[in-house]
Amino acid sequence: MEALVAQYKLAHKSVGFVPTMGYLHEGHASLLRQSALENDVTVCSIFVNPTQFNNPEDFLLYPKDEVNDVLLLKKNGCLVLFAPEDDFVNEIVEVSLDLKGVDKVLEGEFRPGHFRGMVNIVSLLFQIVRPNKAYFGQKDFQQLFIVQKLVAQNFPEIGIVASPTIREESGLAMSSRNARLSAVQREQATKIAKALHLAKSLAKEKRSVSAIKEELRFKFFNNDDLRLEYLEIVDAQTLLPLTDFSFPSRSVVCVAAYAGKVRLIDNMSINS
Ligand code: PAF
Repeated sequence: MEALVAQYKLAHKSVGFVPTMGYLHEGHASLLRQSALENDVTVCSIFVNPTQFNNPEDFLLYPKDEVNDVLLLKKNGCLVLFAPEDDFVNEIVEVSLDLKGVDKVLEGEFRPGHFRGMVNIVSLLFQIVRPNKAYFGQKDFQQLFIVQKLVAQNFPEIGIVASPTIREESGLAMSSRNARLSAVQREQATKIAKALHLAKSLAKEKRSVSAIKEELRFKFFNNDDLRLEYLEIVDAQTLLPLTDFSFPSRSVVCVAAYAGKVRLIDNMSINS
């Protein structure tokens, strides 16, 4: 991969990079298409990084389908697939990055070590692929936020492109983990996006943060098999939970919930 990148650099070809953990879906496809439009060469990596999984079962059950992944890559303008073997994990080194507590809230609170593991692998991949631009989905809002911090500190030459969340017709945000949902769980999981939309309209009606959170919890979660882990309205600039809407700062409602044993996350900007 490094030798190939060196050739591209020599030929002054721009490289767009889409890092993934495989089991690719339309969300990844949209990142790949955008990269193919904006760069000479698009590289995708597939590596299920064990160091960012706090739950060993989630790691073991992470879905894989290399044949379909390659088909999707070919269809969406990706020229190079970088799919290192499992022992790639031994190449990972600890990156020093002061996240100022942003890795301890939301996902960080419930997935200790997740963002450390993510930062370390993304940093390693950036060092190997040396992209001009790297593409990340807004579904992983906090990941995107932290990657921007990593790039500002260590890779100022890389442009980070944030792409909107791609949703199924039901509103369910596309995710590789959706493959593990039963038909009933998939139906229940659609409540997550419904909750986010309601938060947006309630915010427009100037309802308070606490009233919105309470209504969402009551209407959508902890009935059936959809168990809420967290529901927060945060400031998009700091990721700190808001207690009131102090406009003009942008706020985002963030949710993590379990449909059965499958953990799903989603978010939506509620005042833009
Ligand atoms: O979002 C993902 O799929 C992963 O966190 C990433 C960025 C590929 C790092 O392993």
